[in-house]
Amino acid sequence: MRQATGVLLTVVLVLSSLPASLAADEQAGPDYSRSGADTCLRCHDESSEFPVLDIFLTPHGNRENERSPFGGLQCESCHGPGGDHSGRVRRGQERPPMIRFGSDTPTPVEEQNAACTACHAADIDTNWHGGMHESAGLSCADCHQVHRSRDPVLDSRAQPAVCYDCHSSQRADSMKFSSHPVRFGKMACTACHDPHGSVAENELRRDNLNDTCYQCHAEKRGPFLWEHAPVAEDCSLCHASHGSNHPALLSRRAPLLCQQCHSQAGHPSLAYGSDGIPAGTGTVFLGGQSCVNCHSQVHGSNHPSGAGLTR
Ligand code: HEC
Ligand code: HEC
Ligand code: HEC
Ligand code: HEC
Ligand code: HEC
Ligand code: HEC
Ligand code: HEC
Ligand code: HEC
Ligand code: HEC
Ligand code: HEC
Repeated sequence: MRQATGVLLTVVLVLSSLPASLAADEQAGPDYSRSGADTCLRCHDESSEFPVLDIFLTPHGNRENERSPFGGLQCESCHGPGGDHSGRVRRGQERPPMIRFGSDTPTPVEEQNAACTACHAADIDTNWHGGMHESAGLSCADCHQVHRSRDPVLDSRAQPAVCYDCHSSQRADSMKFSSHPVRFGKMACTACHDPHGSVAENELRRDNLNDTCYQCHAEKRGPFLWEHAPVAEDCSLCHASHGSNHPALLSRRAPLLCQQCHSQAGHPSLAYGSDGIPAGTGTVFLGGQSCVNCHSQVHGSNHPSGAGLTR
């Protein structure tokens, strides 16, 4: 058995080094260009409208790595066989097209993505398939720019702009009075989301919303002697993760925030006499942080007599 595996391994090794020899080999099949990138660069050079050369500054351009495109079929490992495309084109004839990338190009998205996943199947785990972005027909190239020395989507400062192209309401939210420091490049969308898909709703990184928040706000997990039920259930019952015009990312201001669930009885939300409370005294329920003036332990309390979340 052990021997059989050894044989298999050798075969695989030979196969995987094949593309490298193909590209260089003058005997390569008619479909591939005769001398790899050198063929392409005769026409696609620094004077081209589309800047192709920066790819040599990226891991894809690394000839030392035999798993990288330039360790193998070079340009054609992504753009497909270019032998015909590179040839002479008669007047009135069209140059045979190459695989083009982006969901707005004639190449079917499945074909484009197959070119990338041929090498990246392990990076794109199973969640990609059937995930929101795959289902919406996105191409890998809608987010990734491989001909840039630094792919913007991999840079936490530049990434949000890539996402905002399609998710404009998150841009608006990030500019609000209270927000996560995404706008300042200190945090990217990928702090909470997995753009390649996830088992959780909303493509969140962790199994559920609260676990995603606990990554950084661990102190809110508890355990508390006196839990506040909605906190353990779902932070987004009170917080708007992308931004809010109320302090502390609150989706509403207290008292209304609290009164979505709690009755006004005994806890009036009118400044002037109501519920039998003398005129003026209601303000303590509204001024400053309103309910939180007294119920300061809104996320839960560890005080023996903290049942009212006041200490
Ligand atoms: C003889 C010149 C020439 C060579 C060699 C050449 N191309 Fe092109 N290529 C062009 C021209 C011209 C266009 C513009 C397409 C058009 O307008 O028909 C183009 C377009 C493209 C496009 C855009 C998609 C398309 O089909 O319009 C890609 C991608 C491309 N080439 C990749 C390559 C690759 C990879 C190679 C090497 C295998 C290569 N080219 C070799 C001339 C060349
Ligand atoms: C021939 C194999 C191959 C193909 C085809 C390929 N890649 Fe890669 N890619 C690599 C290798 C190798 C690396 C370097 C990282 C590594 O060693 O795992 C890499 C790195 C990357 C990275 C990380 C870059 C960085 O700066 O860290 C991204 C993103 C990426 N590839 C996206 C793509 C996309 C999108 C496509 C399709 C348009 C694609 N790749 C096609 C082999 C490939
Ligand atoms: C919705 C945007 C989006 C799409 C679509 C997308 N990616 Fe990514 N990809 C990202 C982001 C953002 C990162 C950086 C992840 C991080 O920082 O955790 C990334 C990272 C990567 C990496 C580097 C992985 C690593 O662990 O370093 C590779 C490789 C990659 N993507 C390949 C692909 C391939 C292949 C496809 C298409 C099947 C694809 N991506 C589709 C946004 C996208
Ligand atoms: C890792 C995969 C990959 C490799 C290798 C690669 N490209 Fe590309 N190419 C792309 C993607 C993806 C795009 C779409 C634009 C972008 O994401 O940067 C593109 C865009 C282009 C375009 C513009 C096409 C259009 O639709 O207008 C040309 C021309 C081109 N590449 C030529 C080349 C040449 C020449 C080489 C070799 C020197 C090469 N590419 C190597 C993936 C690759
Ligand atoms: C602090 C964590 C966090 C960060 C950072 C974050 N999100 Fe979200 N996102 C969430 C949560 C939680 C949800 C679930 C719904 C909700 O509570 O709004 C969500 C939902 C979404 C949704 C689907 C719901 C909708 O409103 O359409 C999109 C799209 C989205 N986020 C995009 C982004 C983009 C783009 C960025 C980066 C600019 C980003 N998110 C940054 C936590 C985050
Ligand atoms: C080319 C357009 C495009 C780009 C770029 C893009 N997305 Fe999306 N995204 C979509 C579409 C389409 C959906 C499907 C659901 C929808 O319509 O909102 C989606 C869905 C999502 C969802 C899940 C929404 C839900 O309702 O569960 C999240 C989260 C998300 N995107 C985050 C991101 C992040 C983070 C980035 C940047 C790394 C990004 N997207 C880049 C188009 C895009
Ligand atoms: C990657 C780390 C990270 C994750 C994940 C994260 N946060 Fe934050 N959160 C921060 C940082 C950093 C701040 C800003 C702290 C500061 O400005 O002092 C912050 C601030 C906040 C604030 C206070 C904002 C204010 O204006 O005072 C709230 C509320 C908050 N986060 C809720 C959440 C919720 C809800 C989630 C889950 C959906 C979440 N966070 C996920 C890092 C994170
Ligand atoms: C019942 C409503 C409610 C729920 C649910 C809730 N919070 Fe809060 N949160 C608040 C209020 C009110 C404030 C502002 C009170 C203050 O300044 O102490 C706040 C403030 C914060 C702050 C900033 C101040 C601080 O205490 O650090 C963070 C961070 C935070 N919440 C995280 C979370 C996380 C994470 C969850 C989910 C585990 C969560 N919250 C669930 C009501 C809630
Ligand atoms: C999403 C609904 C919801 C919101 C919003 C909410 N609560 Fe609660 N709260 C509950 C539930 C459910 C309980 C547990 C009640 C029980 O055990 O009978 C609770 C318990 C409490 C308790 C403990 C009293 C008791 O009966 O156990 C206090 C005090 C409290 N909440 C204050 C607040 C304050 C202050 C706010 C606003 C910052 C708020 N709540 C927002 C649902 C909510
Ligand atoms: C002036 C301080 C104060 C303010 C402001 C205040 N509370 Fe209370 N609340 C209390 C005290 C004291 C208790 C008795 C709980 C205890 O034993 O600690 C209480 C009890 C509660 C209870 C438990 C059920 C009950 O009636 O005993 C809830 C729910 C509650 N408050 C919600 C709120 C909400 C919602 C607001 C904002 C509209 C609010 N409180 C504002 C002091 C306050």
